[in-house]
Amino acid sequence: MDIQICKNYENLSTKACAHVSGQIAKKENSVLGLATGGTPEGMYKKLVEQHRKGVLSFQQVTTFNLDEYIGLPANHPLSYRVYMKDRFFSKVDLSVVNTHLPDGQAADLTAECARYEALLREAGGVDIQVLGLGHNGHIGFNEPGTPFASTTHIVELDGKTREANARYFDKKSDVPKKAITMGIETILAAGEILVLISGADKAEALRDMLYREMTTEFPATALQQHPNVTILADEQAAKSL
Ligand code: GLP
Repeated sequence: MDIQICKNYENLSTKACAHVSGQIAKKENSVLGLATGGTPEGMYKKLVEQHRKGVLSFQQVTTFNLDEYIGLPANHPLSYRVYMKDRFFSKVDLSVVNTHLPDGQAADLTAECARYEALLREAGGVDIQVLGLGHNGHIGFNEPGTPFASTTHIVELDGKTREANARYFDKKSDVPKKAITMGIETILAAGEILVLISGADKAEALRDMLYREMTTEFPATALQQHPNVTILADEQAAKSL
């Protein structure tokens, strides 16, 4: 794993943007795996800036998001579809038909998981997967205990995860209890993985991800077996290394 420590969040976001732009420069029709949460917001801003400057086009790019809540209408302000539309999709020249998220409103959720996984395969797999890190080691919404051999599946969200995400909702009880997420095997199939970690509250999680023995109890340790992982951490997040 290549660990790069960035001075601050701004710096981390600039580097993350450069990484993704570099991928698109190498391959115009790249398939990007995208993440939500607070951490990648700066990267999306920078990617939009690059696009506005006329130096970056997403016309040939396809995107697959990691996860989506179950039960929120797709146009709900806190759905991940809306998060992506507001921060990124609607601000660049991506074609909406090339942007994919699991459908958390599908009538048959099990079939939806299989459809998403098949769509990923059809697209030729993810070239670069952007990831955040949960305090409990979750990646996507793969909570502790998820088998490393998992593909896209339905999850019950951990209490800690719902608490962390409650900041976006009026109250914790509004946070959905379930989600669809790419599995750990799905994530590990990406050609390259870019993990973004910011803030002192993630310091312990970053240390565990790097140094704990691989265990399903801390899903992010699965990344230790991937041959091409870059970690961008700011100084606060890296303080326990
Ligand atoms: C959320 C998302 C993850 C994200 C993680 C960390 O629950 N499902 O994809 O990486 O938690 O979020 P944040 O970047 O806000 O700390």
